[in-house]
Amino acid sequence: MPRKLVVANWKMHGNLASNKQLLEAYIQKITPINNIDVVVCVPYPYLAQAQSILQNTNIAWGAQNISKDAVGAYTGEVSAVMLKDFGARYVIIGHSERATAYCESDENIATKFAQAKAHGIIPILCVGETLIEREAGVMQMVVGKQLDTIINTYGAGVFANAVVSYEPIWAIGTGLAASSDQAQSMHEFIRGKVAVLDKSAAASLKILYGGSVNPQNAVQLFVMQDIDGGLIGKCSLNAQEFEGICRAAT
Ligand code: PGA
Repeated sequence: MPRKLVVANWKMHGNLASNKQLLEAYIQKITPINNIDVVVCVPYPYLAQAQSILQNTNIAWGAQNISKDAVGAYTGEVSAVMLKDFGARYVIIGHSERATAYCESDENIATKFAQAKAHGIIPILCVGETLIEREAGVMQMVVGKQLDTIINTYGAGVFANAVVSYEPIWAIGTGLAASSDQAQSMHEFIRGKVAVLDKSAAASLKILYGGSVNPQNAVQLFVMQDIDGGLIGKCSLNAQEFEGICRAAT
């Protein structure tokens, strides 16, 4: 069975002192678990701190966004090369909190995905539908369209060794996770969509589930065939809960 991947998304939480405590607790509780991959995506200013505390451990670190441009007059942006300077191995792209609050278009998200890949940073592409879209039964169409923007521009091969995180918007931060059947069925759809065009890319693609994952529901989700791990928001801010989720992935 492929190794599961568990990614902490700290969002806009933390400060130097609390991060130090949390990362040290991660090291104590999570580094002994060695048959999964664990990543923590921190706010930009704390990449250096994550690098200094986590280097020489089996926990990787990354960012929560990346510029779609390589270099230049783009005030406030952070490039792939800059992320690499701080040892970031992963970057979250197109999280719905950004897509809605900062008007990220599917085209921008696709360019960011390509930027990350071009610089050897593993993109974690977030896709997912709203509650209205699920209730209307169009969730596959919505997620399909999000993937198509990337596939039509860069080809399905770009998903080789990448990560897609299925994050139903109605499940994020609500305490109401998707059921394991709902998640599995979307994960199967995502893998199938890539597989039709590029079998080997689909096989190496990791598909995470994100949205109110906690230590109680994690096992049910992670045992599903196409669920390769999770993207964890709230519960990643508590080392004990995050450890519980990581253990569920084993
Ligand atoms: P949550 O967030 O675990 O707090 O629902 C998940 C996410 O937004 O990635």
